[in-house]
Amino acid sequence: MTRHFLRDDDLTPQEQADVLELALAFRADRFLRTPLSGPRAVAVIFDKPTLRTQVSFVTGIAELGGFPLAVDGTLAQIGVRESIADTARVLGRQVAAVVWRTHAQTRLDEMAAVAGVPVVNALTDEFHPCQVLADLTTIAQHRGGVAGLAGTTLAYVGDGANNMAHSYLLGGATAGLHVRVGTPADALPDPEVLAAARAVAARTGGSVAVLHDRDEAVAGADVVATDTWVSMGQEDEAGERAGRFTAFRLDGDALALAAPDALVLHCLPAYRGKEITADVLDGPQSVVWDEAENRLHAQKALLTFLLAER
Ligand code: NVA
Repeated sequence: MTRHFLRDDDLTPQEQADVLELALAFRADRFLRTPLSGPRAVAVIFDKPTLRTQVSFVTGIAELGGFPLAVDGTLAQIGVRESIADTARVLGRQVAAVVWRTHAQTRLDEMAAVAGVPVVNALTDEFHPCQVLADLTTIAQHRGGVAGLAGTTLAYVGDGANNMAHSYLLGGATAGLHVRVGTPADALPDPEVLAAARAVAARTGGSVAVLHDRDEAVAGADVVATDTWVSMGQEDEAGERAGRFTAFRLDGDALALAAPDALVLHCLPAYRGKEITADVLDGPQSVVWDEAENRLHAQKALLTFLLAER
């Protein structure tokens, strides 16, 4: 059966834990031999800007012994020059997997329905699940390993309706985290995602909560996280959005309310003085550079899982 990773809950809690363990193993030994070793091409396609995602997938696929084929989405024009389904048919006959950063999640769903090879979400408007695998790897790295993830409280403050908020809810619930989203009442997570995260949390012993007060969200949290207030494609709304989210900035006052040794996460790129202050991003509790590195390890683990013979 072809497996995909389109959203965080495409992995069961056990599968997610296995992927995270493998990510930590790759952290310890970058050239660990895995079944992906061999000349298998993986297409890595970008319809939106990228730095970390392109570099980490291309590097990771090469390190696994595969051939990373970076495709510029503006040249490919998927869904414009050719339908998504026809593109999927062509890609599925040539490459071992498709990694795609695109706009609507429905585009990814269409690709996965037809490709016949694993399709991986490298960020959509709705989800950024590879980032949350890296974030969970980072928490496991700095705390009690993968087994210690369950029961950890993660507070995400900022835009509660964006891809990171949704992936923290779903991916965090899968890991048994207590996920709190601190966001204004006009930036709520998608109700379907929230309900799905609640259902997963009920099985893993985690929980999810949406709060409209930043301080309440971060109080006592083991991990605090934020993301840009202006996601890719929202640039025209930058001024209005800055006003809306100011009360949810991750600054020193907020961090002081979290657990004394709380970890600070940010998927990057970060805008110092906007969603996070420089003292927090660059301070001693920040693990954002490990988090960026862990994209590499987590995605190698994910591809190894998806491409394993079943
Ligand atoms: N929410 C951000 C994440 C960037 C990695 C965006 O979609 O632009």
